Amino acid sequence: MKSQDPNTSADIFSTRRDFLKISSAALAAGLATMEALTANAQEATSLAKQCNFSALPPGFVYLNSGTEGSMPECVLATLQDSLKKWASDPTTSYETDPALGKHQELNREKVAAFLGTGRNNICLTDNTTMGLSMTLMGLNFRPDDKVVTTNHEHNAIKSPLQILQERIGIQVETQVFPASETLSGMDSNELLDTLFPNSPNLRGARALCVSHVYPSTGVRLPLAALREKADELEIDYLIVDGAQAMGMIDLTSGADNIENCDFYACPGHKWLNGPPSTGVLYVRNENLRPPEFYPTISQRMGMYANCDSQSDTCFPIAEALQVRGCSNTPGFAAMISAMKFAKDVGGSAQIEKHILTLSREVKDSILSRAPRSIVSPHSDSDLASGLTVFFPFKWDRPETTFRDQKTANQVVRELLDRNIQVRSIGFADAGSSGESSEASYAVRVSTGYFNTTSQIKLLNDALEAVLTRIG
Ligand SMILES: Cc1ncc(COP(=O)(O)O)c(C=O)c1O
Repeated sequence: MKSQDPNTSADIFSTRRDFLKISSAALAAGLATMEALTANAQEATSLAKQCNFSALPPGFVYLNSGTEGSMPECVLATLQDSLKKWASDPTTSYETDPALGKHQELNREKVAAFLGTGRNNICLTDNTTMGLSMTLMGLNFRPDDKVVTTNHEHNAIKSPLQILQERIGIQVETQVFPASETLSGMDSNELLDTLFPNSPNLRGARALCVSHVYPSTGVRLPLAALREKADELEIDYLIVDGAQAMGMIDLTSGADNIENCDFYACPGHKWLNGPPSTGVLYVRNENLRPPEFYPTISQRMGMYANCDSQSDTCFPIAEALQVRGCSNTPGFAAMISAMKFAKDVGGSAQIEKHILTLSREVKDSILSRAPRSIVSPHSDSDLASGLTVFFPFKWDRPETTFRDQKTANQVVRELLDRNIQVRSIGFADAGSSGESSEASYAVRVSTGYFNTTSQIKLLNDALEAVLTRIG
C-alpha cells in the first residue's frame, strides 16, 4: 500500500495533467489565456484539498460509487450544520427557512443552476426510485397505451411498469440488449438501431423508459440520440433513469443534455457524493397539469382542483411534487454542497473527463489481458461511462471466463480482503444468437471522482493476484 492516503483529492484529475490538456485545447479555441486557466486549475486543486474525502479510511480503495458515493468533508459539514439548525428551531426550519423549509425554492433554484434548467423543472426527491415512481404513477396512462423499455432496467423502472400493467393493462414492449460479446464492440448508432428499430410494435408508444447509464453493463445511451429515436418512433415521453449518470456525466450540454428528456430521475447519493436519501426529478414541461399528469405524492392536489389554469394561481407541477410533508431538507442542503464542490473542483465536464479517463485505464488493462471478458463497450466513447464490467477470468489462461455468481462474489470478497471495494453484478445476457439466457454475473468497477490513477494500479495488481488463483 502506498504511504500517501489514496483518498485525498490532491491528485484529483490525475491531476494537473488533465488541466493542462484542457488549457491547451481552450487556448487553441481562443477561450481564455493560459494564465487564467492555470490559475483556475490551481484554485480548483486547492479547493479540492480543502474538502477531502477523508471519511474514507486511509488505504481503502473505494471503487463502488455506482452503489453509493462517499461524502467529502464540506458535504458532511453542511449536513451536520443543517441538522443542528433544524434541531435548534424546528418550526421556523420547516415552515419558512429558505434552505430547510418545505417549498425548497432556494435549493431547487441551485439544482436548476447546476443542471442548466429552470427552477420549475426541478423537484427534489429521496432518490431515483421516487422520481421514477412520481413520473410513471403521475402520467395518465390508459389501458391501450404501450410503453417501450429494455431487459436491463433496474427495478426502479420495472416495478412501476409492472403495477401499471397489472392495474391498468398497459402493454410493455421489452427490448433485449445484444449479447455482451457483441455489445462490447458496438457503436452507439448500431446499438440504438438494434434496441429501438422503427418497427410497428414500438411506433406510437406513449413512453420510452430507459436508463442513461446501465448499472449492469456500463452502457451509456446518449440522451440526444435517445430523443431522436423517441421522435422518429413518435413516442410521447422519454423517461430516463439517471441513477448512474448524475455526478458522473455532464448533463448541461451536448449529447447528454438533460433537456432532451421529458422526465429524468437521478440521485444525489451515488456519483455526486451527496448524502443518502437525496435525489432530483427533472420535468421538462413545467406547465404539466392534470389530467395529463397528477402529482401523486403531494399535499397540493387541491391547488390544481381549485385553481384557474388561465391565471397564475396554480402551483407549478414541480412544486406540487415538492410539497409532500416533511422531507429530508438537511440532506438537500448537503446535496447542494456536493454540487458546489463539483463546481469548485472544475465543473461537471471536467469531472466527467476524470471519471472516464480512469475508467478507460481499467478497460484498457482488462482488454490487454482478457479481451473476451469485457462486457462494457470500449470502442465508441459515446457509449462509455465510469462503470467497467467484466467477467472474471483465469489470469494465466485469459480465454477462460466465469459467469457464475459464486465466482464473481469470490473475486469481490478477495479484493475486499485487500482493501479494494468493487461489486458483483448480475444481468440477463442474451446468447450469441440473441435469445435470452440465464443471468450472468460479472465484476463491476466504478471510478468515481475521488479515485486516482495510483488506485487503478493497486486494483490491477490485486486483480492479477486474485485471478491467478481462481477456478
Ligand atoms: C439504474 C438504477 N436505477 C435506480 C437505482 C436506485 O437508485 P436510488 O437508490 O437512487 O433509488 C439504481 C441503484 O443502483 C440504479 O443503478
